[in-house]
Amino acid sequence: MRYEGREEALRARLLHWYDAHARVMPWRTAPADRAVGVLPDPYRVWLSEVMLQQTTVAAVKDYFHRFTARWPTVGDLAAAADADVMGEWAGLGYYARARNLLKCARAVVADHGGVFPATRDGLLTLPGIGPYTASAVAAIAYDEAATVVDGNVERVMARLHHVETPLPTAKQELTELAASLTPQVRPGDYAQAVMDLGATICTPRKPACGICPWMADCAARAAGVQAELPRKLAKPEKPTRHGTVWLAYRGQDWRGQDWLLETRPERGLLGGMLGFPGDGWDGAGGQAPLPLAWERVAEVRHTFTHFHLILDVHLAKAPEDAQPSRGTFVPHRQFRPADLPTVMRKAYDLASSVILTR
Ligand code: ADE
Repeated sequence: MRYEGREEALRARLLHWYDAHARVMPWRTAPADRAVGVLPDPYRVWLSEVMLQQTTVAAVKDYFHRFTARWPTVGDLAAAADADVMGEWAGLGYYARARNLLKCARAVVADHGGVFPATRDGLLTLPGIGPYTASAVAAIAYDEAATVVDGNVERVMARLHHVETPLPTAKQELTELAASLTPQVRPGDYAQAVMDLGATICTPRKPACGICPWMADCAARAAGVQAELPRKLAKPEKPTRHGTVWLAYRGQDWRGQDWLLETRPERGLLGGMLGFPGDGWDGAGGQAPLPLAWERVAEVRHTFTHFHLILDVHLAKAPEDAQPSRGTFVPHRQFRPADLPTVMRKAYDLASSVILTR
């Protein structure tokens, strides 16, 4: 028994710390408001949790504001055009999240009358909602005593209990340790408190143990190894892929250019996103979309989850009546560079700076 009856003291110390130090976030309800029964909107909690997977709070905030201004309710999001949602998501990465976001919003409307199910089990039946998101929404929006385990929580548990087993092997053990500390009272505040502790005090490299509410309880600190935990199995090195993108444009004056773009297939890398036709990097293959005098103007580098990418950017001006074999010319008035995923945005920025200096 790893807690030996200390659970209540640990919970109380953490919640006391959270009452004073909870981070203010646009999707959150402050502990003082939750104490009088005000819970946050499940739609906003769900949206923020999906955005926060693999992404930092700082990067998410602007996206969250734009999404909720444009689509204030899950019904609004469900009714949105796919291309608009993918465009707003551009730059956040892990684009499967955006495709699943839409599927989930539409299921909430079609099957649940536009109201998110109020239990972890109910949430798990929705497309794109896995154990993490179901627990987070159930705990934060509905105060269910669900255990929320993200990278922050794993790190905090590994240190509190001095778990030497490396990740990912230790996942199950760390989840069980987190579960046996999850309280029946204030589980939503508690879930957010552990994550805040991991994000602000029990940080990966230099934990601020001197101000930690669990300092006296921390087994890793007693052993002097807190900053080394959790241990991690070595990851295989990422391979490097090489490829090509073709950027064809029409028109060249103060109004800007029409660019040849295609909506990428639903499945596969950057699925459903807008992009320039390419070859040799995404497994899809492809030919130049037009027989033009292509010029290799630059190289862009980008790192995906499983590989590094070096893309040769080819640029050419197309005649007004060009008939491309792939994609369509998007009129400059309709084209928003911000709708491009980051790697395509890098290629576009390089190509447009080349055009500007001509
Ligand atoms: N990281 C992901 N979700 C979070 C939340 N609700 N609170 C703090 N950090 C988080």
